[in-house]
Amino acid sequence: MKKLNNDLRIGRSQKLYRKAKTLIPGGTMLLSKRPEMFLPEYWPSYYKKAKGITVWDLDGKQYTDMTEMGIGSCVLGYANDEVNRKVIEAVKNGSASTLNCPEEVELAEKLIELHTWAEMVRFARTGGESCAIAVRIGRAASGRDGVAFCGYHGWHDWYLSANLADNSNLDGMLLPGLKPKGVPRGLKGTALPFEYNRIDQLEKIIKENDIGVIIMEPLRDKGPENDFLKKVRALATKNNIVLIFDEVTSGFRKVLGGIHLDLGVDPDIAIFGKALGNGYAIGAVIGKRKVMDAAQSTFISSTFWTERIGPVAALAVLKIMKRDNVPAKIYAMGRYINSQWEKLSNKQDLNLHIGGISSLTHFDFDKDNLLKKTIITQEMLKKGYLAGNSVYVCTLHSKKVVDRYIEDLEDVMLMIKSAEKSGTLKKMLKGPVCMAKFKRLN
Ligand SMILES: Cc1ncc(COP(=O)(O)O)c(C=O)c1O
Repeated sequence: MKKLNNDLRIGRSQKLYRKAKTLIPGGTMLLSKRPEMFLPEYWPSYYKKAKGITVWDLDGKQYTDMTEMGIGSCVLGYANDEVNRKVIEAVKNGSASTLNCPEEVELAEKLIELHTWAEMVRFARTGGESCAIAVRIGRAASGRDGVAFCGYHGWHDWYLSANLADNSNLDGMLLPGLKPKGVPRGLKGTALPFEYNRIDQLEKIIKENDIGVIIMEPLRDKGPENDFLKKVRALATKNNIVLIFDEVTSGFRKVLGGIHLDLGVDPDIAIFGKALGNGYAIGAVIGKRKVMDAAQSTFISSTFWTERIGPVAALAVLKIMKRDNVPAKIYAMGRYINSQWEKLSNKQDLNLHIGGISSLTHFDFDKDNLLKKTIITQEMLKKGYLAGNSVYVCTLHSKKVVDRYIEDLEDVMLMIKSAEKSGTLKKMLKGPVCMAKFKRLN
């Protein structure tokens, strides 16, 4: 029988997190997995098992995941049998050796088949390191240090240096929430941010600085306006700048490959991660030969970029995605979720603001957003969901699952509405309000 969390008791998971905070700075390795981002004090935090869209916590309580499915990494659901079969075979045959695994060559070919503008590929295992590789190659190819960026690109020095802006000798905060302490001050002014759809900002940056690389998420929250991406491409070409599209999150979410294929603009380099491995670690940097060749003029090398599980998983994922038309299906289901949220918003006069690529959809309230989001998480947890204000759609989010989730969400929205009317919204919450995500530029 399904074990619910309807009394919100502190269990083994929460106790383990308290211990973790004494042993691991920040408690977790990924900011987005900190319980404080969801429901401080009561979020289950740890899982014993995850299968499909069901997650079991350490007390055996069971939840349907209507949040971010492994922070965007599990498009085929958790522990997909077909992918796992291939991975287990690879483990049995040795996932590491003094020699290289042939699957990396096959995977390179498959990615180039999908992106006909690209000719060469390098592999890594995480999104952030793939971005660092791409930026290194871009700087090596252009021969210039300056980077203009738009979006989130990981934790490395080249990126965080943007927050070293020197205001009255304090570290400026262009991306609030990302602290740059420990990043060499000498990197100040080497990474400059521009906002999405603001071609004027990018033009100014290029005019006033020696920019060799533009790196950006081609699409995240809102679509390009006034040929924005085409103009970025033209600026890059005119000024001999390497244009990189970071598709770590947007890749395989609408079409098979980068979302840029749908937007009709080709970069010089594109980066993939997350969905490509369905929970197994793989990152890919694909690009034009004349740019990628610059990887040979610098040093980019790591032992575990050669292990076998990542490429084997990615090959299985690509096969399933193509056969089952996965990106189009999750995109359509995301649109359905949006339509149901919209209906709910109109019916209950909630004034929800819905945004994002449909398969990575989210909503916000225009008042008391974080408080209401935390209440949703608390009340949905009692009903057996991991839920907040965003859904990263996977293939197992069927219409039946979504309809049930919307029904349960409707009950919670009604509770919020009536508490708001009676001025008791804050009292609904058992613990503190969740933390805000850092502010994005796109
Ligand atoms: C666009 C983008 N780039 C890079 C990253 C960093 O990837 P990772 O967390 O695998 O290092 C992320 C992660 O959210 C991302 O969304």
